[in-house]
Amino acid sequence: MENENASVWSSVRFWRRSAGWVTGVSAMLLIFLTFDSVGQITMGTDDDLKNKITKRVPAPTVINYHIDYKMSQKRGHEVPVIGEKELFFGKNWSEEEARALLHLGKLTSQAKNCMNCHTLLGNGAYYAPDLTKAWLDPTWETLAEAFGGKEYAISAFLQDPAGMAMHKRRMPNLNITEDEAKGLVAFLKHMSSIDTNGFPRNFSKSVEQFKQGETNAH
Ligand code: HEC
Repeated sequence: MENENASVWSSVRFWRRSAGWVTGVSAMLLIFLTFDSVGQITMGTDDDLKNKITKRVPAPTVINYHIDYKMSQKRGHEVPVIGEKELFFGKNWSEEEARALLHLGKLTSQAKNCMNCHTLLGNGAYYAPDLTKAWLDPTWETLAEAFGGKEYAISAFLQDPAGMAMHKRRMPNLNITEDEAKGLVAFLKHMSSIDTNGFPRNFSKSVEQFKQGETNAH
C-alpha cells in the first residue's frame, strides 16, 4: 500500500527540488538577460560611428551624420541607417559639444513636458504624433530646402508651431528659445537613430498628403 501511494507527484521532496531548480535557472536567465540588455542599450562611441559599427543607441555625435530609415528584408521592418557625414546647424559637432547639446534637448523635453502629448521611445501620450522617429518624417524633407536644412525647419516649427501647422490638432507655443530648439532637434535626431525594432511604423502624414494640403487629425 505504502509503495503505491509514493507517487513522485505527491513527494514533498520532489516539489522542493523542482522549486529550487526553477528558481535557480530563472535567476540565472534573468542575470544573463540583464547583462545582455545593458549591452544592447549602452551608447556607442564616436569611434563606432567612424568605423561604421552599428550600435542600437549610437553616440551623441550621430547628429553629424545623415540618418535614413530603410526596410530591412532580413528583420522585416525599417531600421535606421547611418549614412555619410552632414553638417548639423552648419557645423560639425565635437563629442563634448554634441553631448552638451543633446543634454540641453533632453532637459528641455522634460521641462516642457513633450510627453504630455507625444510619445518618446514608447513612453508618453498619443494626443500628438509619435516623436521617436519625427526627425525622419518625410514632411521635413519637403520643407528642408526653403529653410536651408531639415534642422532649421524643425527648429522654426518648435519656436512657432502655429506658423507652420501641419495637422488639425495644433501644438501650443511653449516659449522655446532658439538654443533650446537646437537642443530639441539634436535630441530628436539622436532618438531617430536608435534601433527600436521598427517601432513606430508610420509617420503622422505622407508627403503627398502634405503637398495636397490635406489635414488629418494626425
Ligand atoms: C499640448 C500638447 C503638446 C505638447 C506639450 C507638445 N506638443 Fe508637439 N505637437 C502637438 C500637436 C498637436 C502636434 C501636431 C501639430 C501640427 O503638426 O501642426 C505636434 C507636432 C509636433 C512635431 C511635428 C511632428 C511630426 O512628425 O510632424 C514635433 C517635432 C513636435 N511636436 C515636437 C514637440 C516637442 C519637442 C515638444 C516638447 C518641447 C512638444 N512637441 C510638446 C502637441 C504638443
